Amino acid sequence: MHLVNILFFLIFLSFSQNAYSRYNTSVIPITKDESTSLHKVAYSFRLRSWDGEPYLFLDLEAPFTWKDCILKHIDIACGLEEGCRFPVRCDKPLCKEAKSYFNPTCPSLNITAKYGCDICAVTPFNPVTNTCKISQMTTDLVNLYLTDGRNPGPGPNPPFGNEFVLSCAPKSLVAHFPGNMTGVAAFSWSGLAFPRQLSFLDIAPKFALCLPSVTSGLGVAFLGDGPFYFTTSRSLDLRSVLSYTPMVRKSSKSLGYYIKINRISVKGASVNIPKSSSVKLSSRVPYTVLRSDIYNALLAGFSKATVNIPKVTAVKPFGLCLKDSAIGTGGVPKIDLETESGKVWSISGENSMKRVGNGAACLAFVDGGSRVADAIVMGTFQMEDNFLLFDLGNQKLGFSSSLLSRGTSCSKFNFTEVAK
Ligand SMILES: *[C@@H]1O[C@H](CO)[C@@H](O)[C@H](O)[C@H]1NC(C)=O
Ligand SMILES: *[C@@H]1O[C@H](CO)[C@@H](O)[C@H](O)[C@H]1NC(C)=O
Ligand SMILES: *[C@@H]1O[C@H](CO)[C@@H](O)[C@H](O)[C@H]1NC(C)=O
Ligand SMILES: *[C@@H]1O[C@H](CO)[C@@H](O)[C@H](O)[C@H]1NC(C)=O
Repeated sequence: MHLVNILFFLIFLSFSQNAYSRYNTSVIPITKDESTSLHKVAYSFRLRSWDGEPYLFLDLEAPFTWKDCILKHIDIACGLEEGCRFPVRCDKPLCKEAKSYFNPTCPSLNITAKYGCDICAVTPFNPVTNTCKISQMTTDLVNLYLTDGRNPGPGPNPPFGNEFVLSCAPKSLVAHFPGNMTGVAAFSWSGLAFPRQLSFLDIAPKFALCLPSVTSGLGVAFLGDGPFYFTTSRSLDLRSVLSYTPMVRKSSKSLGYYIKINRISVKGASVNIPKSSSVKLSSRVPYTVLRSDIYNALLAGFSKATVNIPKVTAVKPFGLCLKDSAIGTGGVPKIDLETESGKVWSISGENSMKRVGNGAACLAFVDGGSRVADAIVMGTFQMEDNFLLFDLGNQKLGFSSSLLSRGTSCSKFNFTEVAK
């Protein structure tokens, strides 16, 4: 066959074999880590394909993705299976952006000056151990799933996938990382965040996060517009259950996601908090951390609303624990966050009470002290089994409140791979 014909044949083949290539949404399985109660994704951003495949910590605040890898300086192209990676030069826009997030608590990059512009020196940060090391940006390949909203299917450019920019990191940075995690997947507002680098998919700048509350099932992240279906209902597109509120980017260098709330109430009674407080959504803490004045007000309000349930000795780090067996089928009163848009994010018992053993269920909020940078930092326990849509283009957050009351949960996506 003539070379051009072969080429056309191959192109035809790659298009015709892959019905999923017309979809714009990618899907990534999420695992809850037993040792930290925080969440992680497999190294491949797909179903974990071998026992022992490492994980990346899912971080809503990291400026860029990183993983333990060694950058070899090879001038000739080498096989992808050899882990060939290409250093990013310092004058690339993504390098400049990565450097603009330099963390002043990390080592100075001065010692890298001798390499000139051939490398892009950065300091990846480990948010669990609070340490950072000098390393450099590189490109790697990721072979993502695409989805019709119901199952994962093959992504673009199989079997190699597409390039994206991340940082390598020395092994010493992951030394005390629990749960087989050897890096960080950035889902922040940075231009280097993983979802924002996937322009090759032609996907919309938005992602959905549905964190699992159990370690036995997989939660799910979607990159792109959707639709999103769970196995519990063939006809319920989860986009239809969302309420929206504006999402604030504090400054052009701010990485985290914030919403504003007007009011917190328990059983209809307002909790005395400053008017218009910011709430940061964080995947780095398991339980919501409140500034002391807000913490004390919430504790007082919740205590009053649960006056009929016997209290038991509080178990650290919590300040209010109830006798679990006395809670009853109706559960505890909801904690309602009235958002800036007037819509209510309801925190029901599954997201407010943590069973700590010995028959105690504790209000799963912690006192951060009076001098915290952010007055309210919502943690993962409060976000689990809630469907959250981060719409970066329109700067708004879609939220569902607990999916459990709708008879579904974040572990109900059908991860059976569909070949065509
Ligand atoms: C994919 O995205 C493009 C542009 O955002 C849109 O026009 C198109 O309809 C999308 N395709 C599908 C299958 O959703
Ligand atoms: C970095 O190196 C330059 C020149 O070697 C020096 O002038 C500068 O003070 C150094 N900066 C830091 C933060 O060490
Ligand atoms: C790490 O992976 C190994 C091999 O799959 C497994 O036996 C071990 O339990 C894992 N550790 C954690 C904390 O997940
Ligand atoms: C999951 O998807 C596969 C492939 O489409 C299908 O055969 C199976 O019935 C689905 N499972 C559930 C629980 O919906």
